[in-house]
Amino acid sequence: MNRNGTGIKKVYIETLGCQMNKSDTERILAILSHFNYFETQTPQEADLLIVNTCSIRQLSEEKAYSRIGLWGKWKRKERPHIKIALCGCLAQHTEENLLKRFPFLDLVFGTQNIYELPELINAAGRVCSIVKDAVPESGEGFLRAKSVNAWLPIIEGCNNFCTYCIVPFTRGRERSRDFNTIIDEAKDIISKGFSEITLLGQNVDSYGKDLEGKPTLAALLREINKIEGKFRIRFATSYPTDITDDLIDAVSESDKVCPLFHIPMQSGNNEILKAMNRRYDRKLYGEIVRKIREKIPNAAITSDFIVGFPGETEEQFQDTLSAVEEFGISYSNIAAYSPRPKTAATKMSDKFIKEDIKDVRFQILNNKIKKVSLSCHKKKVGETIEVLVDTLNEDGSAIGRTWDNLIVHFKSENSKAGDFVNVYINEADTWHLKGELKQASLNKV
Ligand code: SAH
Ligand code: SF4
Ligand code: F3S
Repeated sequence: MNRNGTGIKKVYIETLGCQMNKSDTERILAILSHFNYFETQTPQEADLLIVNTCSIRQLSEEKAYSRIGLWGKWKRKERPHIKIALCGCLAQHTEENLLKRFPFLDLVFGTQNIYELPELINAAGRVCSIVKDAVPESGEGFLRAKSVNAWLPIIEGCNNFCTYCIVPFTRGRERSRDFNTIIDEAKDIISKGFSEITLLGQNVDSYGKDLEGKPTLAALLREINKIEGKFRIRFATSYPTDITDDLIDAVSESDKVCPLFHIPMQSGNNEILKAMNRRYDRKLYGEIVRKIREKIPNAAITSDFIVGFPGETEEQFQDTLSAVEEFGISYSNIAAYSPRPKTAATKMSDKFIKEDIKDVRFQILNNKIKKVSLSCHKKKVGETIEVLVDTLNEDGSAIGRTWDNLIVHFKSENSKAGDFVNVYINEADTWHLKGELKQASLNKV
């Protein structure tokens, strides 16, 4: 029973970081729902407050600290009964220190023992529980947010140890989930009415290397493509050199798979790529992109870039700018290098780039990305494109996404979230398209 005497408790969870964390949050909520905890969007009314953290940059960690700092104040001053938990990537790599540092934290748990949550919450006293390299669980227990897209994690962890990146320390080594479990889960997702499935992994195209029989992402895509119904399949994130010819063929042959490849390049300069411990150079990245476009001429390529990696010179940064053009990248995430504990690049402190220089490079690259994004959008003007409806507002305005994940604003009185509609594009902006509904609805079969 909680203080209201109803037995129903409310949980507020704030999710920072990548899609993997969003997917974990869904799993956490599913588990908690079996123990009478229901999600609230209002932290002020929650009995349990959780922050699902990200460690990718220093700033991401600071967000988590500021969140629990605020909740700690509430607990001390007004609401001593609340429980505060911290989980996710920050928990996984900082471990016990967090309980020492934040005396009001009740629970710290890692990325690999979410299934222990009920016991941890019910335990007396304060708990820290971090498990390393656990085998990913079977498929049950996801409570997916009632939305259009369902995340489907297929591989967890990373073996690459790029010198800047903390993920191998927060998510452990690569562990693929069982092929048939994934297919069953995909079928379940579609039977529940979702219109889009995104296969997830830190390196999604590395799927299956650790499994018997070495099943592949290509095989998964082909199999999920066979499931009946109208829906889209996406996959992210791809490590460049794990994109095989067979994967390109599978994307090209499978009508439900969106031909959008998110292939982080990180830098356009060979020396920086080497210092980052990326296993390709500019030429090889280009060959992969060329191979994709040979088979799928309209494929979209998106990327991630880091600016201001230790030692990056002005000329080396120019190589990143020119790579965006050369490889026809239509959108990219950009991050200023942030030194992370345990990673090799933190030892290059004598080569660290000053913050103001990183800021300038960030802005220059950001302007470039804005330009390519706008020109990619402009090419769509005059086309009628299938849009998957995400959001509908009361005033009749709707927002949806194209196969290449471009955002489209249009008016629609009758569509529902999850519908596929045809929209005539008549205006292009930097971050979105505008259009007119052409055909009321291609409702799902
Ligand atoms: N597995 C993917 C990336 C996962 S991390 C890949 O290999 O490409 C997501 C992104 O965060 C990375 O692509 C990188 O651009 C950024 N990132 C990772 N560590 C960083 C750091 N220390 N500083 C700044 N950006 C970082
Ligand atoms: Fe990080 Fe590199 Fe692994 Fe990507 S491949 S998660 S950047 S270590
Ligand atoms: Fe962040 Fe962890 Fe994802 S560090 S980017 S939440 S894997």
